[in-house]
Amino acid sequence: MRRILRLLLLAVLLTPVAFTQAGAQLYQTPGPSSPASKEQVPLYTPQTDELIGRVSIPDARSAVLIQPEGREWRAFRSHTLKLVVGGLALGMVVVLALFYLYRGKIRISAGWSGRQVLRFNGLDRFAHWTTAVSFLTMALTGVVLTFGRTLLIPLIGHPAFTSLAETSKSIHNFVSVPFIVGLLLIVALWARDNIPNRADWAWLKCMGGLMSKSGHHPDAGRFNAGQKGVFWTVVLGGAAMAVTGYWLMVPFTGVGIGGMQILHVIHGLLAALLIAAIIGHIYIGTVGMEGAFDAMGSGEVDENWAIEHHRSWYEEQRRKGYVEDRQPAE
Ligand code: HEM
Repeated sequence: MRRILRLLLLAVLLTPVAFTQAGAQLYQTPGPSSPASKEQVPLYTPQTDELIGRVSIPDARSAVLIQPEGREWRAFRSHTLKLVVGGLALGMVVVLALFYLYRGKIRISAGWSGRQVLRFNGLDRFAHWTTAVSFLTMALTGVVLTFGRTLLIPLIGHPAFTSLAETSKSIHNFVSVPFIVGLLLIVALWARDNIPNRADWAWLKCMGGLMSKSGHHPDAGRFNAGQKGVFWTVVLGGAAMAVTGYWLMVPFTGVGIGGMQILHVIHGLLAALLIAAIIGHIYIGTVGMEGAFDAMGSGEVDENWAIEHHRSWYEEQRRKGYVEDRQPAE
C-alpha cells in the first residue's frame, strides 16, 4: 500500500514537469533565425509580390499563400464599399429632403380632373413590381451582407447574425431570377419608348421644370428624359449586376482570384449607384409628385396629370381614341 502511495505522490509531483516538457515542444523557444515580431512574418506583412508555395493536391490555386491585391480588395470590402453605399444613399436622402423643403410636393397645377387615362396595363405593372420587389429584396439582403458585421453583430450577436447572413445570401441569389424576368419584361415593353429623342434635350435643359415653382413642365412623350435615365440605369446597371453576380456564383470560372475581386468591386459599386438612383425614383413616385403613384398603382392617371407631365403621349392616346373627348364646358 505504502508503495502505491509513494508512486502516486511521485506521479503528482512529476505532472507539472511533464506538462512543461510538452509545452516546450508546443511553444518552441525561438532559434537564432526565428522572427522576433509579427512584422517579420511574411504572411502578416504587406507584400508586393505573390508568395506561392508548393502543394501536392490537384488544385494548384491553394499554393498561393499571399496575393497582395487581396489586401486592397479586403480594404475595399470592409471600408470603401461601406462608405460609397452609405454615402450615396444618405447623400440622396439629404438631397431629396432639401429638394422637398425647396419645392414641396409637385402638385397637379390644374387640380384633379376626375377623368382617368390608362397609363400602364396589367402586364406593365406586373413587370414593374416584379422588378421592383426583387430589386428591393436584393438591395436589402446585399446591405445586410455588406454592413452586417459592423452594424448587426453588436446588436444581435454572432449566432443570430450567422443565420441571418446565410438566409440573406440564399435569398439574394434566388431572387436574382425574378429580377431578370422583370428586367427582360420591361425591356420588351418599354425600351421603344425610352429611346432618346430631341424633346429630351429640351427637358434636360430646364431640368424637367422640377425647380420651377410656376408649375410649368416641358413637353414629354410616354417617358421624359429623367425617366429614360432611370430606365437605362436600371436596365444596363441591372444587367451588369446580374452578369457580375452570376459570375461570382461560379468561382474561378474563366477568371482567377484577381478577376473575381474585380467582378466583386464592379458589383458593389453598381449596387451603390442603383440603390441611390432608386431612392430618388421612389421619392418622385410617392411623396414627391401628386398623382404619380396611380400610374403603377391602379394603372390609370388623372387626365390633368397626363396633360401636364406627358402632353405628347396624352395627345397620342387621344388620337388613337384611348381617351374619351372632354364634355363641352356648360
Ligand atoms: C416602392 C417602390 C417604387 C415605387 C413606388 C415606384 C413607382 C413608380 C411609378 C409611379 C412609375 C411610373 C411613372 C410614370 O408614370 O411614368 C414607375 C416607373 C418605373 N419604375 Fe418604379 N417604383 C418603385 C420601385 C422601383 C424599383 C425598385 C425599380 C427598379 C429597380 C423601378 C423601376 C422603374 C422603371 C424602370 C420605371 C419606368 C421609368 C420611369 O418611369 O422612371 N421602380 N415606378
